[in-house]
Amino acid sequence: MRGLEGNTYIVTGGGSGLGKATCWRLAEEGAKVGVLDLRKSAAEEIAAEINAQFPGAAVAIEADVTKSEAVKAGVEVAVSTFGGLHGVVNCAGIALGEGGVVECTEKSWDLMMDVNVKSIFLTGKYAIPEIIKAGGGSVVNISSVFGFVVNPDECAYAASKGAVINLTRQMALQHATDGVRVNAICPADADTPLISNLLGKEGEALIEAKAELAAPIPMGHLTKPEDVASAVAYLLSSDSAFITGVSLPVDGGFLVK
Ligand SMILES: NC(=O)c1ccc[n+]([C@@H]2O[C@H](COP(=O)([O-])OP(=O)(O)OC[C@H]3O[C@@H](n4cnc5c(N)ncnc54)[C@H](O)[C@@H]3O)[C@@H](O)[C@H]2O)c1
Repeated sequence: MRGLEGNTYIVTGGGSGLGKATCWRLAEEGAKVGVLDLRKSAAEEIAAEINAQFPGAAVAIEADVTKSEAVKAGVEVAVSTFGGLHGVVNCAGIALGEGGVVECTEKSWDLMMDVNVKSIFLTGKYAIPEIIKAGGGSVVNISSVFGFVVNPDECAYAASKGAVINLTRQMALQHATDGVRVNAICPADADTPLISNLLGKEGEALIEAKAELAAPIPMGHLTKPEDVASAVAYLLSSDSAFITGVSLPVDGGFLVK
């Protein structure tokens, strides 16, 4: 991908799943990456593994994306470590299996909205001024196919992922003339710890449950983290220079049906 080499990015939720694959892909493209995660040990582990292969390419950032001061400090770490910031990939997110509006607790609703939506508001608040200072760049927000269609038993997840799509559009419109592009990616169910934890199964039972989840995906398998990382790399790169405000399904055809 063109225009990634030497640039600096923060990937929230970089300690696992889609964020982890994205951190690796960006390092492979010659970029520097702030591996930001709530779980310090996970961020440190991924940053160390990346640095072993690409010396100096990664820094671990421990931060809770729902907390303003933590996000602000995290952006400062990336900027001071690498000398600037060209983009953010918002991968931190949760799925709780919270139920519909009758079953979902107020606590689950608030947590979901904070982690999945407020986080993008906060990283934008502190990172976009830095991206503008660096001469422009790109933000990628991870929504979901369930930002377009819904499951009956996930009211807060559906609301949060729909909100990510429209927040992406607002950010794109506002910053179109600042040289900051903002896009979203909408994966179908993906093979990551988030899904394994949600399914709550192990071994053969987990393999079967994943196969059931993949059944409605026309291409016949769950989204691979690498598929999302490729789409992120494209949307951060100058190969997508005139693309902003879109929400791109990476879903093996799930939304076609
Ligand atoms: N896995 C899927 O099926 C799937 C499908 C579509 C969209 N998504 C979305 O992609 C994103 C990433 O999902 P994943 O599957 O990689 O999940 P994951 O659980 O594998 O990784 C999420 C990471 O985010 C971190 N995180 C959670 N809360 C945080 C917080 N408050 N502050 C900082 N970091 C925090 C976790 O520690 C974890 O390392 C989420 O927004 C999710 O909704 C996932």
